Amino acid sequence: MRILSGIQPSGTLHLGNYFGMMQPAIALQDKGEAFYFIADYHSMTSLFDAEQRRKNSLDVALDFLACGLDPQKSVFFRQSDVPEVTELAWILSTLTPMSLLEKCHSFKDKSAKGLPVNHGLFAYPVLMAADILIYDSNIVPVGQDQKQHVEVTRDIAIKFNEQYGETFVIPEPQIRGETAKVPGLDGEKMSKSYGNTLEIFGEEKPLRKKVMGIKMDSRTPEEPKPDVDQNLAIQLLKLVAPTETAREFENRLRAGGFGYGDLKKGLFEHYWNFFADARAKRAELAANLDYVNRVLADGASKARTLAQTVLKRARLASGLE
Ligand code: ADP
Ligand code: TRP
Repeated sequence: MRILSGIQPSGTLHLGNYFGMMQPAIALQDKGEAFYFIADYHSMTSLFDAEQRRKNSLDVALDFLACGLDPQKSVFFRQSDVPEVTELAWILSTLTPMSLLEKCHSFKDKSAKGLPVNHGLFAYPVLMAADILIYDSNIVPVGQDQKQHVEVTRDIAIKFNEQYGETFVIPEPQIRGETAKVPGLDGEKMSKSYGNTLEIFGEEKPLRKKVMGIKMDSRTPEEPKPDVDQNLAIQLLKLVAPTETAREFENRLRAGGFGYGDLKKGLFEHYWNFFADARAKRAELAANLDYVNRVLADGASKARTLAQTVLKRARLASGLE
């Protein structure tokens, strides 16, 4: 079984990225042959600073390795080190109905907000389809918001297979139920575009301030709070604290006599400890960039070999060769 996923180097890693995509991806590396990449071509649709892209790409590499991606188990690479994927994207685009792309939220949301949209953003699901199909991927672990793109990929692959004969493996999205949508500090979906993120790596003081700044209702500490399920700090705590501990916090809130200040303090401590090992590992990796670059070069070479084989299959099927 081949597992594939990618993450854009477009900002700082946050809890949503970690629980929605990175942690499930890392867990899956023991279940099959995993391919994970830094989607730098994708980042070009919305990030226009070259130096920033270089920095972000390296940051994602450090983040992923620090969080447990094991290069002995997974093939880890930069998307643009396999330029074959852009040729496949072109081939696939010729079988992609405009109406399929017009339905995609990624494009619709941005254009509805009046943000400038470019052709790359519109065509982005086709590049994502190429990313997935060029490695004969079976399983694609992603957050809920990417499910539609994997469905588009399936549609395109089925169409190609019908038109030119069996060529591509049809992939399945894999979405983790309980962490499909991690809430942000304002209760909306956590996303760097909403400025409501809690970062995984960063300075302790500003991060503590962010957690302590989470808005709660105006009930006094003494009041019992039966609606713990709605509480944002509890929802986040459940991600980073042992089940027993989270339950204890819930019980204390329900009973009354437990204030939001103490709840947020508890949340911060558990969140900070949850990533303590990863933080130490990341510092080690940052001091050893030669190693990180070697991992990426090695991953690129393995990924490229496979991509060339699958691209050749598509070229033959479609009469380019
Ligand atoms: P952002 O929304 O911050 O721009 P991306 O779109 O770059 O994040 O998402 C990278 C990965 O993280 C994707 O697989 C996405 O599904 C996942 N992800 C992002 N935000 C969340 C969230 N709040 N909950 C669950 N998964 C998320
Ligand atoms: N579009 C994904 C995101 O924004 C990143 C991505 C690009 C991806 N290509 C992919 C994810 C292929 C899974 C498979 O998060």
